[in-house]
Amino acid sequence: MDARCEVDNRVRVLWILAQNPGQLTPSSALVKELKITRQGISKIIGNLKDEGIRISSVPQKGYVLEGPPEDDRFSPSWAEMLLIDSKLGHPIFHYASIGSTQAPLKEMAAQGRPEGAVVVADEQTSGRGRQSRRWESPPGGLYGSVLLRPKLLPRMVQAVNLACAMAMGDALAELCGIGCEIKWPNDILVRGRKICGMLSEGAVEVDQIHHVISGFGVNLKVTPILNDPLTEATSVAQEGGKVPSRHHLLSHFLKRLDFYLGTLRMTPKYFMETYASRCCTIGMRIRGTWGDNIIEGTAEGLDQDGSLLIRLEGGDVAAFSAGDIKHIRPAEGR
Ligand code: BTN
Repeated sequence: MDARCEVDNRVRVLWILAQNPGQLTPSSALVKELKITRQGISKIIGNLKDEGIRISSVPQKGYVLEGPPEDDRFSPSWAEMLLIDSKLGHPIFHYASIGSTQAPLKEMAAQGRPEGAVVVADEQTSGRGRQSRRWESPPGGLYGSVLLRPKLLPRMVQAVNLACAMAMGDALAELCGIGCEIKWPNDILVRGRKICGMLSEGAVEVDQIHHVISGFGVNLKVTPILNDPLTEATSVAQEGGKVPSRHHLLSHFLKRLDFYLGTLRMTPKYFMETYASRCCTIGMRIRGTWGDNIIEGTAEGLDQDGSLLIRLEGGDVAAFSAGDIKHIRPAEGR
């Protein structure tokens, strides 16, 4: 266990059991490691079982970890255990149903909770998308938000969005075996259809980012019906990919996110180059809209903050930092 991570005893017990899955872990070993009583251990085991984790008790001896919850039931302790060495993902809160996973984190952020807290819900009743749109969130997807406190300049909030997109792109490619593309800033597409959307909401001060809450919605088993005629949706199941457990997808995503946020801070130029090489918007003829403003041109690259650089008709280059973009067609000569 990494000393950096402050995880609660529930996760520590689970981690110890998981070192010998299917085999007996003596109660005495747990008592010694956690420095709590046998009754305390027994209470924690009860809590883990309540989350659906399969543990059998061997009277007077100890416990055997049989496996994670069945039927895609989400256990926050199981997810935290997979993230035991990671800075992000502690603690994880789980709701069967919630309006939006962004809301509790906003309160926690205001109360000063440190970076890394996560909220996951099985469904959202008022899931929110970018530009005040609705995000359909029926059971069968991964809906979550993470509280970040990146040590970056305020103008880099957009770049945090880009890091989220790369992290989820990696996780989906590695776990589901589907080829994903990133549409600037952070839509994840498969064959031009949206499989994942992300929403980053930040609070910035004059010279620092106070916090960013990054929400992610991934269509796994179900393809939601969208109200938006301009966007076609898809899901991992529809694309014939392997549907991962939400525990694995979440933990992969958060580990990659931590990595990309580090890259962004240490080597921002390299970060932007990597993002640009994976972003299908670059090289496209695009139309960007922001309120009543419309801009049309060819997406040529990114500036140092992650804004899209658009070559306009007359040859000038404009930076587009917020709003919606539509891919019209590949640029001439591509
Ligand atoms: C978009 O593409 O418009 C962004 C969609 C973001 C959806 C996620 S689902 C979890 C989190 N909670 C929300 O209400 N929205 C984000």
